[in-house]
Amino acid sequence: MNSHTAPLPDRRRLLTSARPMPDFEVVGSDGPWLLRADGTRILDGSSGLLCTNVGQSSRKVLARIEEQFSRFTFGGAAVVQPHLQLELTGRLSRAVGRPDDSVALVTCGTLGVEVAIGLARNIARARGGRARADILTCDLSYHGMSAFTLALAGNHARRPRPADAMGLGPAFPAPYPPTHPHDSGRTCTADCAEEVAKAIDSRGADNVAAVLLEPVNGTTGGAYIPPDGYLRRVQDICRARDVLVIHDEVLTGLWRTGPSLASRRWDGVEPDIVILSKGLGAGYTPVAAVLLSPGLAPLLHHQDADPLPAMGTMAAHPLMAAACLGVLDELEALDHDALRARGERLGEALRSLTGLPGVRDVRGVGHLYGVELAPGLLWPLLRQAEQRGVFFYPFTGAGDPQSEGLVVAPPLTSTDEDLDFLTAALADAVRALN
Ligand SMILES: Cc1ncc(COP(=O)(O)O)c(C=O)c1O
Repeated sequence: MNSHTAPLPDRRRLLTSARPMPDFEVVGSDGPWLLRADGTRILDGSSGLLCTNVGQSSRKVLARIEEQFSRFTFGGAAVVQPHLQLELTGRLSRAVGRPDDSVALVTCGTLGVEVAIGLARNIARARGGRARADILTCDLSYHGMSAFTLALAGNHARRPRPADAMGLGPAFPAPYPPTHPHDSGRTCTADCAEEVAKAIDSRGADNVAAVLLEPVNGTTGGAYIPPDGYLRRVQDICRARDVLVIHDEVLTGLWRTGPSLASRRWDGVEPDIVILSKGLGAGYTPVAAVLLSPGLAPLLHHQDADPLPAMGTMAAHPLMAAACLGVLDELEALDHDALRARGERLGEALRSLTGLPGVRDVRGVGHLYGVELAPGLLWPLLRQAEQRGVFFYPFTGAGDPQSEGLVVAPPLTSTDEDLDFLTAALADAVRALN
């Protein structure tokens, strides 16, 4: 019996997701569609954990990987010239409108966040703030699955036990209704940034290296968008206190929400450090890129600076860089006007679901939406949707009772017909619950 015919081990031996695994095997793909062994197909409305933004099995990505593969497959950045990684540094920083940034490459979003924190601490200390170690996050946030990033962030579904916060934990309320309620029905505004000022000042700014936040909320709350002016106010508050601003765009970066970075929705928002990951590897390679603004990078090279925190074995893998260049080839070849228009149409169609019983709220932008449901409907709705040929990612967020719903995030390469199918199937699935 060879390895292809041996029976598969029990599913629980693969320690990956607590969710039941799909019981169908995927044997092919076509744009956002996954083709099953039984001849049916299912539209992946989650882009495979929000990353297959340019669809599956791209020939452009394959060509890039093959080209590098036939040259050589691996060599540490200190052994062979990291030519391709330098090409990626230039290409990526130009693509997101930060052409002079320095870039650290690592292997996943979690590590990108860890490296961003390391860089922020190095910079804060090089600027003379020897005590500056604290990283402040909000209570509706997810920044990765290492013990440290779980401890820092506010996603309690992923870190249910307070003891595992190691004395850390979120420092300020997110500017969204479930975690920052206001009297007399008032909703959050840019003024909610004052909570960030309070959090920094109560620690003492001299102890704080950076504020870390998702410029548009991802899967913790389900695609909440901050009030206009909020991110700019947070930035001003931080700059006045010599605190750095880190944007976690692991999920939102590279056109997922419309512009190349989610923060580009608002004028004058220029974080010191940006983390990209999911849409950069697009499912072809594990990767994250940490972008650092040019005014700060020289501080890392000062003779008294701490060691660079980005030196893992796989940090600058040439095949990883090749795949990312192929993904950028795909992303830059998109018709961005048409992409924006499709995102708006998708948003309109989804927002029209708010009239249906069980749908509490629809929020989001571009190709990223949260459809919040009445408690208890999430898993039945996911099943109904799958029966109609669409797969979504669930979120279980904040509040009491905890909010829950679907993240709707199809690949950016989806056609109008694909998105019409998705929204019609979802509407039908919602109706089937009532
Ligand atoms: C906003 C955000 N940050 C960080 C991460 C962690 O990325 P990874 O799962 O690649 O480690 C995620 C993953 O979902 C995320 O959504």
